Amino acid sequence: MATVTIKHITKAFGDNVVLKEFNETFQDGEFVTLLGPSGCGKTTMLRIIAGFEKPTSGELYIDDQLVSGGKTFVPPEKRSVGMVFQSYAVWPHMNVFDNVAYPLTIKKTPKAEIKKQVDRVLGIVHLTQYAERFPNQLSGGQQQRVALARALVAAPKLLLLDEPLSNLDAKLRESMRFEIKEIQKELGITVVYVTHDQTEAMAMSDRIFLINRGVVQQCDSPEVIYNHPSNQFVADFLGKVEFFKGEAKDGKITFPAMNGQHILYDGPKTGKVEVAIRPENLYFTAPEEGQLTGVLESQYYLGDVDDCRVRVGDSLVRVIAPGHVFKTLTDGQQVGIGVRDFLVFDDDGMLEQLLKIQT
Ligand SMILES: Nc1ncnc2c1ncn2[C@@H]1O[C@H](COP(=O)(O)OP(=O)(O)OP(=O)(O)O)[C@@H](O)[C@H]1O
Ligand SMILES: [Mg+2]
Repeated sequence: MATVTIKHITKAFGDNVVLKEFNETFQDGEFVTLLGPSGCGKTTMLRIIAGFEKPTSGELYIDDQLVSGGKTFVPPEKRSVGMVFQSYAVWPHMNVFDNVAYPLTIKKTPKAEIKKQVDRVLGIVHLTQYAERFPNQLSGGQQQRVALARALVAAPKLLLLDEPLSNLDAKLRESMRFEIKEIQKELGITVVYVTHDQTEAMAMSDRIFLINRGVVQQCDSPEVIYNHPSNQFVADFLGKVEFFKGEAKDGKITFPAMNGQHILYDGPKTGKVEVAIRPENLYFTAPEEGQLTGVLESQYYLGDVDDCRVRVGDSLVRVIAPGHVFKTLTDGQQVGIGVRDFLVFDDDGMLEQLLKIQT
């Protein structure tokens, strides 16, 4: 069991400040994900927690123990932390079994126990039949799973995973997500997971920390972060969204780029706003019944959904309709668009209001 408390941690490489004032506690048994674009500081934060990097300022505690801060620095091997690196280093001169067994071998665990534990984790990562192979006889995704198995075998109280599934195909990735979640629940360990894949973050996390340029933009459950993004960056990063410039006044928001069409709005904000609409929150209606009307320009059949573009004045509005809608409408046809809900951001990109329209 482990908590991680991060107090005012800042990290700079020379003049480049890559983490700014990180303040947070990861709870015991929690699955937290650090999510954000490439270069935002995710790996750096993970390396600081593991002890491979020293923060420039601030303090880090694992449980109640200060492990980084002031004159204190506890080295990685004394932190009881398991880590899978983004560049999953596996030892080329050892076969899969010995790679995975290594953390137990150095602890002088009895041979029979090692065999039992290694067989168990190799089963979890679907590599049982590869135990005798050497890393150069494995694919990238298989090597990545060896690294994951090696981190799991020592049953650490805190597991740090840096993009551990990035080299796997879509199917295996989905099943491994599930496996990692199951292991975490079963062992009750705290997991800090790094990814830039938002679906993965949504599916696995208790809380997501969305980071941009070293600054945490929002930390919340997947549901809250998706439905109540605190600013435009968050709304844009998670899921599909389109932004439209509008003018709020007298209970409506008018869109100059949509021939002055408007949607109803009873929020407090007046003046210039940015309206964010997720395409899955739009649906087709008869032209006279829509909150907006336009001309259907294109539709792409994606199986489960039908991805459409509708020309509304100078704007192109994306509508994601259920797949069975495909080709029930014809390109060039006049359509109405119903709006289930939308988000209103003010000029600084901060969330003003979430509006749900009852339908
Ligand atoms: N040892 C280092 N020396 C100098 N700069 C570094 C060092 N390590 C990381 N950086 C810089 O810190 C920033 C954050 O890097 P980091 O590896 O934490 O990003 P990331 O969020 O993990 O990105 P990615 O998704 O691409 O893995 C980058 O601008 C990177 O160039
Ligand atoms: Mg990284």
